[in-house]
Amino acid sequence: MIIFGASGDLTKRKLMPALYTLYKEKRLPEEFVVLGIGRTAYADDAYREHILKEMDRFITPKERVEGTMMEFISHLCYLTIDPAKAEGYGLLDQRLQELTGEKKSDNLLFYLATPPSLYGVIPLHLKGAGLNRQHTRIIVEKPFGYNLESAQELNKVYASVFEERQVYRIDHFLGKETAQNILAFRFANGIFEPLWNRNYIDYVEITAVENLGIEQRGGFYDGAGALRDMVQNHLIQLVALTAMEPPAAFNADSFRNEVVKVYESLAPLTEEDLNEHIVRGQYTASSTKKGYREEANVAPDSRTETYIAMKIGINNWRWSGVPFYIRTGKQMPTKVTEIVVHFRETPHQMFRSKGGAGKEANRLILRLQPNEGMVLKFGMKVPGPGFDIKQVMMDFSYSELGGLPTGDAYARLIEDCIQGDPTLFTRSDAMEASWRFFDPVLRYWKEHAEAPLYGYPVGTWGPLESEAMMHEHGAEWTNPCKNLTNTDQYCEL
Ligand SMILES: NC(=O)c1ccc[n+]([C@@H]2O[C@H](COP(=O)([O-])OP(=O)(O)OC[C@H]3O[C@@H](n4cnc5c(N)ncnc54)[C@H](OP(=O)(O)O)[C@@H]3O)[C@@H](O)[C@H]2O)c1
Repeated sequence: MIIFGASGDLTKRKLMPALYTLYKEKRLPEEFVVLGIGRTAYADDAYREHILKEMDRFITPKERVEGTMMEFISHLCYLTIDPAKAEGYGLLDQRLQELTGEKKSDNLLFYLATPPSLYGVIPLHLKGAGLNRQHTRIIVEKPFGYNLESAQELNKVYASVFEERQVYRIDHFLGKETAQNILAFRFANGIFEPLWNRNYIDYVEITAVENLGIEQRGGFYDGAGALRDMVQNHLIQLVALTAMEPPAAFNADSFRNEVVKVYESLAPLTEEDLNEHIVRGQYTASSTKKGYREEANVAPDSRTETYIAMKIGINNWRWSGVPFYIRTGKQMPTKVTEIVVHFRETPHQMFRSKGGAGKEANRLILRLQPNEGMVLKFGMKVPGPGFDIKQVMMDFSYSELGGLPTGDAYARLIEDCIQGDPTLFTRSDAMEASWRFFDPVLRYWKEHAEAPLYGYPVGTWGPLESEAMMHEHGAEWTNPCKNLTNTDQYCEL
């Protein structure tokens, strides 16, 4: 396995811990080598030491088994070249010959963990050096393109170097147990699927928020924003898992065909949608925390969104008329990723609701992180006189099954790629279909400097306008902890 960008953050934070997990659990082949590539100069030993030191930060002491760790580390080596320049690839070929003992081994897996500007360059250099061999595979990190046109161009580059079966566009959300469990929940149980449509579901909310800012990623984030960083990939994948038709079989083609069908059914965004059904926000300073514009490597007049909420529709028989409300944001009150499915109310309300909360419909909450699990809410009679109804919860928590292993998403996906299973990776047509849907938003913001961008104070649930968007539907966002504060703190930027 050859990692481009091996001196970087992703490698130490995710890839090495994932590979160590696979090694520890004997899920890697007996003979393997991980060759790191980067411009930062390391001798093999120095690179091993570097990774060994970093490992402690990203795996728990319980996961670290000393002898196994040292064995794993001995499989690493490093080559100092600039992956942007063709001249280093001869050295790469030579090093691969030494490591594999073969003149033209094609049992190779390339992992692109560099800045995205190199995603179109490295495959061409691999081709130039004859390293795009028949059984070679390549994993490409997100973001894959920054709009439809650039994604199409990248796809063309990959198609000119590899066959589609060799290209693995990774989105680690799909590697999460909890995301895969949406499929198990929907398609391994007979009782929910008959209700899973416009006749029984009123609307769906998908939230992926975090209580951190952009940390040290100002340079990257200011050129990207929440739509590119989270919505076009992660959130829309969750829409697909929630909305897709049952695949004919659980294999790469059937599953990915259904994903593409969802993306192709997304109701194209109209001028009205762009104005009224998309709310973008940017966090502003609180008494203790910096605002976005004060962060390092962010323009002081930046109009990059750190929050976005959208109402989207799906034009097909199952979902016609059922809005999907999706949102993501930084510096929110908490970190949570969840899908809330709101079922329709009973057609006739006979009972009083305890506490005067009025009519309450059933809700199903699929919690992807943290406190991974599921909750179904329904009304039950409060014991005693009268007929008062109270919402109660039936819940399942992964902690009851011993919890989820850490670093599971990358380990799962790397293993799938090694085994040649692309099911949980994004196919080129899905990537383009998703960009095709979001491209008008990016264009609209670019062409309309005056399009509103709302400030929201750090630690709140985003702009008040996003609440207004829900009120149109007679609904409210499900906020795991409420803290809408003084409305004077909100402003238009
Ligand atoms: N970090 C995460 O948690 C995370 C999560 C999801 C996706 N990703 C994606 O994964 C990719 C890598 O992320 P990262 O955080 O590891 O990035 P990074 O630390 O900024 O960069 C990775 C490495 O790329 C090399 N590099 C940087 N600029 C270069 C240039 N102009 N030419 C050649 N090499 C260059 C650097 O190594 P040398 O200087 O040694 O060459 C650097 O160590 C990004 O596309 C990111 O979007 C990251």
